[in-house]
Amino acid sequence: MSPNVHALLQSGAQLADDALERLLPATDTLPHSIHRAMRHSTFAGGKRLRPILCMEAARMVAGGKDIPEGAADLGAAIEMVHTYSLIHDDLPALDNDDLRRGKPTCHVVFGEAIAILAGDSLQTLAFQTIAALPIPPATTVAILREVSLAIGTGVGTHSPLPPGMIGGQVVDIESEGKQPTAELVESIHRAKTGALITTSIVSGGLLGLANAKTAGHEDTISRLRTFGEKAGLAFQIVDDVLDMTQSSAELGKTAGKDTASIKATWPAVFGIDSSLKDAEELIADAFDALAPFGEAANPLKAVANYLVERKH
Ligand code: IPE
Ligand code: IPE
Ligand code: MG
Ligand code: MG
Ligand code: MG
Repeated sequence: MSPNVHALLQSGAQLADDALERLLPATDTLPHSIHRAMRHSTFAGGKRLRPILCMEAARMVAGGKDIPEGAADLGAAIEMVHTYSLIHDDLPALDNDDLRRGKPTCHVVFGEAIAILAGDSLQTLAFQTIAALPIPPATTVAILREVSLAIGTGVGTHSPLPPGMIGGQVVDIESEGKQPTAELVESIHRAKTGALITTSIVSGGLLGLANAKTAGHEDTISRLRTFGEKAGLAFQIVDDVLDMTQSSAELGKTAGKDTASIKATWPAVFGIDSSLKDAEELIADAFDALAPFGEAANPLKAVANYLVERKH
């Protein structure tokens, strides 16, 4: 990784952390258990990729040097949703994992009831945060619509709803133990992971357009959406590969879990080598979508490259 990309990832993660620190209730807020649980999982050491993508999309679209006002809080709100999804994903009723971000999972430390409620409350706080963004009300409504659809119940195939995170989680769980097809895995991945990554980028773009100094490209949002869909699918393909190739210590979560649970994964259908090739091709396609933005797209492209090159 070049020093520039490293610095970009580090400063983006710091901005997201600062916003989360400010937005989450302190651990001495009553009732203590839930606020400790929310902070335990939020500050366990995530990569903050979704907030970074959100802030960089906003910066590119706004056309300035700085990350626009409100983008860090929007990124933090998306990270709250992501953390809620991880707390619930790890519950005994779902993937039943006891390690996350290198720490014991929320339900292991605080019990199942508080872990469920910590996930619920992170989601609630995310929408409170979006509603309070310092942007025109019409943009707030557009972002609320965008994010709520992305984390909803669609899976995209035979569904009038767009792919949504919960829809993907449902099909993921219901497909355990069965031999997956390529179509099935693609629809799960686009929904359970791709949709939140896409909405991180698109909602950042909506915020950036509200801050834009010059007229944006007419098709800015649809280009960001295509970029997010391709990069989001590549991200989950790599997550599946890393589950098979890395250790629990490297991942900060239980390695080999997908094979043990007979999950519908990309390498289960295509093998590891072909999965990595698919992820690289998807990133190249994602780059094509940003061609009209020229050099201004370099930071977003650098983060997308990291999505497939990462080792944890
Ligand atoms: C893990 O996401 C969960 C998936 C959607 C595959 P990340 O790899 O971004 O996890 P953190 O946030 O860095 O812990
Ligand atoms: C998680 O997918 C997707 C969501 C949390 C929505 P995984 O089950 O593959 O994520 P990990 O591997 O446990 O992080
Ligand atoms: Mg899962
Ligand atoms: Mg899991
Ligand atoms: Mg996984």
